[in-house]
Amino acid sequence: MKEFANESILELRRAPVRATLDEAIRAHDARPALKVPVWIGEDQRHGEELVSTDPGRPERVVATAAKATPEDVDAALQAAQRGAKGWAATPARERADALVRAAQWLRERRLEAAALAVRECAKPWPEADADVCEAIDFLEYYARGALDIAQGAPLLQVPGEKNTLTYGPRGVVAVISPWNFPLAIPLGMVAAGLATGNAVVLKPAEQSPGCALMIFRALREGGVPADAVSLLPGEGDVGAALVKDPRVHTIAFTGSGAVGLEIVREAAQVHEGQRHLKRVIAEMGGKNCVIVDSDADLDEVVPALVTSAYLYAGQKCSAAARVLVHEAIHDALLERLAGAVEVLDVGQAERLGIDVPPVIEQASQERVARYTAEAERTGRVAARAAEVPEGGWFATPAVVADLPPDSPVLTEEIFGPLLAVERVKDVADACDRVDTSPFALTGGLFARNPDTVDYVVDRTPVGNLYVNRSITGAMVGRQPFGGNRLSGTGTKAGGPGYLLQFVEPRVVTENTMRHGLVV
Ligand SMILES: NC(=O)c1ccc[n+]([C@@H]2O[C@H](COP(=O)([O-])OP(=O)(O)OC[C@H]3O[C@@H](n4cnc5c(N)ncnc54)[C@H](O)[C@@H]3O)[C@@H](O)[C@H]2O)c1
Repeated sequence: MKEFANESILELRRAPVRATLDEAIRAHDARPALKVPVWIGEDQRHGEELVSTDPGRPERVVATAAKATPEDVDAALQAAQRGAKGWAATPARERADALVRAAQWLRERRLEAAALAVRECAKPWPEADADVCEAIDFLEYYARGALDIAQGAPLLQVPGEKNTLTYGPRGVVAVISPWNFPLAIPLGMVAAGLATGNAVVLKPAEQSPGCALMIFRALREGGVPADAVSLLPGEGDVGAALVKDPRVHTIAFTGSGAVGLEIVREAAQVHEGQRHLKRVIAEMGGKNCVIVDSDADLDEVVPALVTSAYLYAGQKCSAAARVLVHEAIHDALLERLAGAVEVLDVGQAERLGIDVPPVIEQASQERVARYTAEAERTGRVAARAAEVPEGGWFATPAVVADLPPDSPVLTEEIFGPLLAVERVKDVADACDRVDTSPFALTGGLFARNPDTVDYVVDRTPVGNLYVNRSITGAMVGRQPFGGNRLSGTGTKAGGPGYLLQFVEPRVVTENTMRHGLVV
């Protein structure tokens, strides 16, 4: 297998490449809405209980899906128990080859997959394309990582003794995923489970069953056996049923803190007859802060903050939510940010060149409005985007300031295009404030002095710190991603070590001295 390299994103500055996007969205719109089944082994059960729609035009149905029942959960886990045995016995190389073929299947349909993410989750084209690339990266990266793990790990050897450390699959993995990276996140977690020889049951987000079907098909077309992976579309109750079930060994979850904590609590219960402890890999929300020192170059800071806070309408878990800016440049930065926010181009995801698409659903739109009103009541709204379309779930991007330190706008994850600016005395003051947060997902720093950089690196609790650049866009293999504190269990998706969550280590020690005669 050749060395891992990130999948190249589309060169959207080229007109012929841009033209392929138009074709892809037209082709998508010409097809009927996707029908997403509950898919267990070779059986598909269709239904229409779940309806996923285009956030930009909620009357447009993108996919309808069956909702998994408790009987489906049971059948999927029975299949997974069977499938886990055969898949674990399959050589690691064959498993890796299946994932690499799945990557190729997706690569050949990258525009179709991106168009689906544009429609189903209102991902703007560059974001949708990056989502597909990241999904491919996860397949390729974990396929290779699993081959390394299959070698075991070296141990100290002394004369007369042979020590071996090997890793085996844990059994059945339940993957529970969010909608905001509707291809990359579920596929990443599923690929990690499969690469290491586990059977996987996928419960995707209710908002994006169409994208889930696309990645599921990639895996099956790549040659992952029917019983090794099942698809259970549905809402939170389906995820909760999987979490509770004693047949599940590992839970890979990405989503909100509230649900993640419930999963951690529930998974700690050992049920009658259960002979293992469940392992939870949880990637959760954040409240990401960017520190701006007095010597920062505002020409770099403003565009980087706009990208970090408003791209994909602030719905990346890594998005900037708070800016802690040195008092010497607070007013200048706020004025320039306000100018940038007023002219943000808010529009439909399929229109290339927009800055901010609609948010995923009505509840998100209302949530952003609620927090903006709260900021207006207790602080001030420095600027709002001047023009916001009607009809879809568009939230008005805004930048707010002068909030009291205990404002929920500063302490709670909003997950929308709302950025709060705070005045700090100096970088140490900013670090103190970051330190009081229970979240520690991503963070940023703009400073020219290398000592300041070292100081912040030393003090930051976050899982991913970005210095003098935007704070979103982690790449597989380059920026392994995941949060600390209440933002996650500290695992790093797309990095060395991630796959170790999905396996069990075994050490064998043999006395190799043979005494006496065998008679
Ligand atoms: N740290 C990361 O890497 C990362 C990445 C992406 C998103 N996120 C976070 O995800 C959140 C947005 O995603 P969301 O709105 O889909 O999150 P969510 O927590 O509402 O849902 C995530 C998944 O959990 C399921 N679920 C809901 N209730 C459940 C329960 N009781 N038991 C088991 N499963 C249940 C949902 O159906 C969905 O599939 C944000 O908080 C964001 O920060 C984190």
